[in-house]
Amino acid sequence: MKLTFFSTQTYDKTFFEEHNKSFGFAIEFFEVALSESTANLIDKSDAICVFVNDRITLAVIKLLAAKGVKVIALRCAGFNNVDLMAAVQYNIRVVRVPAYSPHAVAEHAAAMIMTLNRKTHKAYNRIREQNFSLSGLMGFDLFGKTIGVIGTGNIGMVFCKIMLGFGCRVVAYDIKKEDSMIEAGVIYVPLDELLSASDIVSLHCPLNKETHYLINQDTIGMMKNGAMLINTSRGGLIDTKKVIKALKSGKLGALGIDVYEQEETLFFQNLSEHIIADDVISRLISFPNVLITSHQGFFTKEAMDQIASTTLANLKAFESGAILVNEVKISK
Ligand code: NAI
Repeated sequence: MKLTFFSTQTYDKTFFEEHNKSFGFAIEFFEVALSESTANLIDKSDAICVFVNDRITLAVIKLLAAKGVKVIALRCAGFNNVDLMAAVQYNIRVVRVPAYSPHAVAEHAAAMIMTLNRKTHKAYNRIREQNFSLSGLMGFDLFGKTIGVIGTGNIGMVFCKIMLGFGCRVVAYDIKKEDSMIEAGVIYVPLDELLSASDIVSLHCPLNKETHYLINQDTIGMMKNGAMLINTSRGGLIDTKKVIKALKSGKLGALGIDVYEQEETLFFQNLSEHIIADDVISRLISFPNVLITSHQGFFTKEAMDQIASTTLANLKAFESGAILVNEVKISK
């Protein structure tokens, strides 16, 4: 089987080449993202492997079908960037890695909270300049605070347990409740109640039509004054311009984002010699109480091993006509 790889980073190549030793696929790696203009790079291929910021639109799927592609392997959990209807129309199957390391993302969300709260990033820089002052570094005890978790799937559940471990009161909102979370002490509440009760709100639901701009002017208005918002899920869950307005007014006390609405033009690249044209991200970067990481929540050794092995196993299952346990299907 020939596999064409898009948005390749050095670490992708390292992990996939290592795991491919036991699969033996012919892999061609491209650094560029998949788009209408780059699909032509494919020199006949049975499969493509893509990541979060490759846009697999109807037009791209048409081109893929013409190149002989029969399966799209997402090396990530989210699939909001694939036109699933178009894939069905062109008889192309879509597989993903539903869970690689929920711990990686949940722990990153916790790290963002700890950084924003205890300002360790500022302390690190200060000490290097022999500035031993504590002024401006005061945080708050997490113990006893209320954490609102939106989405208690694989990642949200691990995150809830971490926060319970800190001695927090954890309230959650999801379209379906998890019994194991209720047993662990998580309290499910309606969304408006979660927003008004929480000192910290963390998003762990997928991006879809229902959740697009879940955090908007109205929902921000329901939040506690000075609350912290954490988004390690997908950028489109929050209306960034409205969030900036809330940061300016002090309504939001802190923001931690590992994902951003327009991240495909920025993230995973070194743009240090470039002028950033995106004024929204530039404004966000200017706030002292905003922490941005460039979609690194997943990025642990354990997760990369799991991503490579599951992606290649998904393709092996397709090749051998086995049941595709990780197939993405249109929900009815
Ligand atoms: P999951 O599918 O296990 O859990 C998602 C949960 O959200 C489910 O419990 C579902 O019922 C709930 N949900 C769906 N619609 C909802 C709605 N309208 N309101 C409230 N809850 C809703 O997914 P998992 O593995 O926990 O991942 C969550 C998200 O994290 C992914 O969709 C992806 O966007 C993001 N992610 C981010 C990564 C990063 O590196 N920052 C890496 C991996 C995933």
